[in-house]
Amino acid sequence: MTYSVAVAGASGYAGGELLRLLAEHPDFEVRTVTGHSSAGDALINHQPHLRSLSHLTLQPTEAAVLDGHDVVFFALPHGASGELTAQLTNVGLAVDAGADHRLRSSDDWAKFYGGEHHEPWQYGVPELMLRGDDGKVTRQREALRGATRIAAPGCNASTVALSLAPGIAAGVIEADDIVTVLAVGPSGAGKAAKTHLLGAELMGTANPYAVGGTHRHIPEIQQSLRGAGAGDPRISFTPVLVPMSRGILATSTATVAPGVAAEQVREAWVNAYADETFVHVLPEGQFPRTADTLGANTCLMGVAIDESAGRVVVVAALDNLAKGTAGAAIQSANIALGLPEQTGLSVNGVAP
Ligand SMILES: NC(=O)c1ccc[n+]([C@@H]2O[C@H](COP(=O)([O-])OP(=O)(O)OC[C@H]3O[C@@H](n4cnc5c(N)ncnc54)[C@H](OP(=O)(O)O)[C@@H]3O)[C@@H](O)[C@H]2O)c1
Repeated sequence: MTYSVAVAGASGYAGGELLRLLAEHPDFEVRTVTGHSSAGDALINHQPHLRSLSHLTLQPTEAAVLDGHDVVFFALPHGASGELTAQLTNVGLAVDAGADHRLRSSDDWAKFYGGEHHEPWQYGVPELMLRGDDGKVTRQREALRGATRIAAPGCNASTVALSLAPGIAAGVIEADDIVTVLAVGPSGAGKAAKTHLLGAELMGTANPYAVGGTHRHIPEIQQSLRGAGAGDPRISFTPVLVPMSRGILATSTATVAPGVAAEQVREAWVNAYADETFVHVLPEGQFPRTADTLGANTCLMGVAIDESAGRVVVVAALDNLAKGTAGAAIQSANIALGLPEQTGLSVNGVAP
């Protein structure tokens, strides 16, 4: 069966990456693309790298245009998709790359986003570990099977959650003193023109932003870490914009639980991802580069134990637009539809 697909927000960065991956997916056919200010334009004028989709014209982003497709991917600014998805009457599977359906807590939504809080959907990070009250560890992919509504993750949020969930689920680290600092590329901020994202403001410099606990991905990380078994995760989160168009390199540290040996700590990560196609723990002493994940649906991770500090140090790299958004969305959609999870996705990056 070929699933008919629409992508809303197809003129933007996340929409463009969804289309790049969907164009190669054997079970999906992109029939409709929509934009906002670009509606009426040829898609190719906004996404000149998507040659195989040059026949498509951007339609207005309206429920009537999107209804009737088997699968609709949303890549709209937060606040825009929640309103629209509520109006859908005939869409088998909807996947939102925006934040509108990610948070379960309306207090968190009010504090970090504001405006109407929409219902939470199944979270689109299949490898994420979940620990039940009985101590049994499962994966988020189990909740995605047969799902009809999926919230793809925030790119920084999934990088950090994947980095720390193994240690929390295994009980080898504590979650009350987590520190994470991320080097991030400006494509994470979208395509809309903003002065601080001009080349002149970015080239040759590293610019911290959202310093001091204000970044919107913090409650999403806490939600994921609670799911992995953390009681009340406390996290200091500092992103730094660096001059690479795509990519996230997140360095996360947390205290090792009392009495836990260094080998047990590393083992928790190795075991957690040993059977995963898209999350790889590198051999001891090796740490990832963002360049090796570009265009791939892969998260690479290096794990070290800083014994003098009593902390684990996890360095994770992924492509914010691929595994961080569009790849996660498609991987989750594959699971929801009962397709092989890896369909249409590559572990190989584009380097240098
Ligand atoms: N960029 C990333 O790495 C990344 C990672 C994870 C999640 N996300 C999420 O994905 C979503 C899209 O991000 P992006 O980076 O692709 O942003 P973007 O490049 O700015 O694209 C936004 C898209 O939404 C459309 N749009 C703008 N205002 C709209 C409105 N009021 N109503 C309906 N459509 C509107 C735009 O259309 P026109 O261009 O035609 O105006 C464009 O197609 C966001 O919620 C973002 O948080 C992004």
